[in-house]
Amino acid sequence: MKILVIGNGGREHAIIKSIKKNKNVNKIYAIAGNGGIAEDAVTVNMDVKDVKAVSEWAKENAIDFCVVAPDDPLVLGAVDLLEEKGIPCFGPNKNAAIIEGSKIFSKNLMKKYGIPTAEYETFSELQPALDYLEKASMPIVIKADGLALGKGVIIAENLQDAKEAVTSMMQDKVFGASGSRVVIEEFLTGPEVSVLSFTDGKTLVPMISSMDHKRALDNDKGLNTGGMGTVAPNPYYTEEVAKECMEKIFLPTMDAMNKEGRTFKGCLYFGLMLTPKGPKVIEYNCRFGDPETQVVLPLLKTDLLDIMIAVANEKLGDIKVEFMNKSACCVIMASDGYPSSYKKGYEITFNTDKDGVFVAGAVLKDGKLLTSGGRVLGVTAVEDTLEKAIESAYKKTEKISFENAYYRKDIGQRALKAYGER
Ligand code: AMP
Ligand code: GLY
Repeated sequence: MKILVIGNGGREHAIIKSIKKNKNVNKIYAIAGNGGIAEDAVTVNMDVKDVKAVSEWAKENAIDFCVVAPDDPLVLGAVDLLEEKGIPCFGPNKNAAIIEGSKIFSKNLMKKYGIPTAEYETFSELQPALDYLEKASMPIVIKADGLALGKGVIIAENLQDAKEAVTSMMQDKVFGASGSRVVIEEFLTGPEVSVLSFTDGKTLVPMISSMDHKRALDNDKGLNTGGMGTVAPNPYYTEEVAKECMEKIFLPTMDAMNKEGRTFKGCLYFGLMLTPKGPKVIEYNCRFGDPETQVVLPLLKTDLLDIMIAVANEKLGDIKVEFMNKSACCVIMASDGYPSSYKKGYEITFNTDKDGVFVAGAVLKDGKLLTSGGRVLGVTAVEDTLEKAIESAYKKTEKISFENAYYRKDIGQRALKAYGER
């Protein structure tokens, strides 16, 4: 089989390394891929957002199955175009990807179908939003409606910050058209859990739970990033919580999308907060999380491509999806300064094998791997316990070096503490 994976980050590298294990696969292409992915797939330099050109390339190159990993091409309808050309895909159609593409859509969906989430109001004009804030209690959460590279959420501690956030989105258009409409919602508290799931619209199978570390600095300080590290499973996600989420959130979401005529097929990501009033949805994503994928897939026992093909054929119910009874930890090595400005172009040296190393921001030049992004790579270790997984991941991280490298030293510590409290 000839497989095409669309995307160019650490998540895609993890997907490719898993797909490579399938015996029926003889060639994997990646659009656009990166310098690290180039060691595991043939990379093709194209813009992932040019979904028309990507689908034409896939047709010309007789691709048998395509995995569309990032939100942008999914929301732009890459799967629709590929399927029109007869290429089966893993990933939702455009009309289902809206669950991530529009926060107003997803909030209204949850309200309509009674799925627990933060109380909210939506606004398409600046003045009514500002008036609303005058009466609201702080802190409060302001979200741009559309995609904003994971940066479209602002938690405002006071009225002035809240007004500035709304004005920057709606008037100054810091997120472009994505911020022309906003959601203003209640500030929730509690541990966060990421649950990725496979679904074909008939069956929904949650993957092993995980915990992201979104802030740039140790002890959850500093700016929000795409994610500085992950662990799986997430200790807060007990069997009891999992049962409640399945009944009140996961299956109702799948059913709601079916009722709306927007059947979701692919990976549906639930960003949850375990509040004192029970689990609530913070966000939906229409794709695998990054860097959640880098801890979830290494724990998957069942063949990934078999699952993906079953999802595409609406036969997920025929497959038994199993995870190892182990723990994983992924440490992200970034360029110092990320998520603000940083230098790049430094050579990466490995004094270790590359098992569990997922490259996100690096290019190959004259046979050398050079840093090219904020998040450079993720280092994942799988062990019997979380404690050992953390230790192994850091040991390996220390054997990889490049100038200006930065990584958090406390990935997994919050989870370890939670195990201690249980
Ligand atoms: P998102 O980009 O939607 O994942 O949001 C980024 C982060 O903002 C989340 O991981 C949460 O930590 C936080 N957040 C989002 N919505 C809320 C909320 N309603 N209450 C508290 N924190 C939130
Ligand atoms: N790690 C969060 C996300 O992928 O959205």
